[in-house]
Amino acid sequence: MAHLHDPPVFEIRRSGIQGMGGFATHHIPAGTRLIEYAGERITPAQSDARYPDAPGARHHTYLFAIDDEVVVDAAVNGNDARFLNHSCAPNCDAVIEDGRIWIETLLDIEPGEELVYDYAYVLAERHTPAAKRRFPCSCGAITCRGTILAKKR
Ligand SMILES: C[S@@+](CC[C@H](N)C(=O)[O-])C[C@H]1O[C@@H](n2cnc3c(N)ncnc32)[C@H](O)[C@@H]1O
Ligand SMILES: [Zn+2]
Repeated sequence: MAHLHDPPVFEIRRSGIQGMGGFATHHIPAGTRLIEYAGERITPAQSDARYPDAPGARHHTYLFAIDDEVVVDAAVNGNDARFLNHSCAPNCDAVIEDGRIWIETLLDIEPGEELVYDYAYVLAERHTPAAKRRFPCSCGAITCRGTILAKKR
C-alpha cells in the first residue's frame, strides 16, 4: 500500500527474477514517482546485528542504505516498494531526497513489465568473487553483472 497513485499502477506477484516482484498494471510514463521505500530507520550497526550474514548463505533482506548513518529496514513498517527486485538493466531508479527514498520510473513502462531498479549494494568489505557469490543476480539482462552488488571504483 501507500502507492502514490489511486488505483495503484503496479501490483505484487511472483517474479521470474526472485520471489515476489512488482509488475505494471498500467502504462506508466518515464519520470513517474511510484511509491516511497518505507520502513524502520535504523543504524548500520543495528542492521548488522539484526541480519548477521550466515556464511555462504545467499543474502536476502529488505534493507536500503541511505548513507553511512541511516538504513531503512522495510521488513518493519514497509510497503509494496520492498518487493521490487534488482536489475542490471533497470527501468526504475531509487531517488533519495531529504533522507527519504522514492521509486521512480526511468523509462516508459507497459502493463505486465516488471519494475526493477539497480540496488547497487555496497558492502563494508571488499567485493571479492566470494562476496559476489553471496549476492548473485538473476535479472537476465544481457548486461547482467552477475551480482546485485555495486561496481566498486
Ligand atoms: C527487497 S527484496 C525484493 C523482493 C524479493 N523478490 C522477495 O520476494 O522478497 C531484496 C531481495 O530480493 C532478492 N533479489 C532481488 N533482486 C534480485 C536479483 N536480480 N537476483 C537475485 N535475487 C534478487 C535478493 O535476495 C535481495 O536481498
Ligand atoms: Zn543482473
